[in-house]
Amino acid sequence: MYPIDILLNEHKLVDRDFAIIEKVRDKLQDEEEIPAPVFWKLVEFIRGYADVIHHSKEEDILFETLREHDTDLPTEVDRNIAVLIEEHIEALDIANEMHKHIRAYHRGASEGRKKILKAVTDYLKIMQPHFKMEEDEVFPAMVKMLSDEEKRKMKADFDRFDKILGGKDVHKRYTTIVEELEKEF
Ligand SMILES: [Fe+2]
Ligand SMILES: [Fe+2]
Repeated sequence: MYPIDILLNEHKLVDRDFAIIEKVRDKLQDEEEIPAPVFWKLVEFIRGYADVIHHSKEEDILFETLREHDTDLPTEVDRNIAVLIEEHIEALDIANEMHKHIRAYHRGASEGRKKILKAVTDYLKIMQPHFKMEEDEVFPAMVKMLSDEEKRKMKADFDRFDKILGGKDVHKRYTTIVEELEKEF
């Protein structure tokens, strides 16, 4: 498997999470009740998988390699990378924001509902176009620019990150969370 396939596979799992978040957003808008574990699982997935497992590979390995590979990186790619890193930070901030308001939501405070609705809406608004930019522009740049040797090294670094940051069966664990969430809706 090439490094781009690893990133695209991770995108597929996060895309499934986006679909769940869209449903949560719609239900919140319709003032329907959402069980507490749904919010906890969403926050856990966004922080533990989307951020720690996926974004770390992009920031610490892919983007670094692209920048090191070519100090004269096309301005467009370099600018996109800066935007993507900023959006990773925003996505994590939003998940933390969501975490903060779950208890208020379950106490029945309308403020809690509004804050969570804003968090999930903002998350989708940032992260769906983010994925599109990566898939349409940054990942193809990687395929074009890097040598086979660099790709092999990147793949090994990705595997190492999974082991260090996620531990055994990390992808299986988070796939199970997504499957559980899908069953809720
Ligand atoms: Fe990203
Ligand atoms: Fe990504």
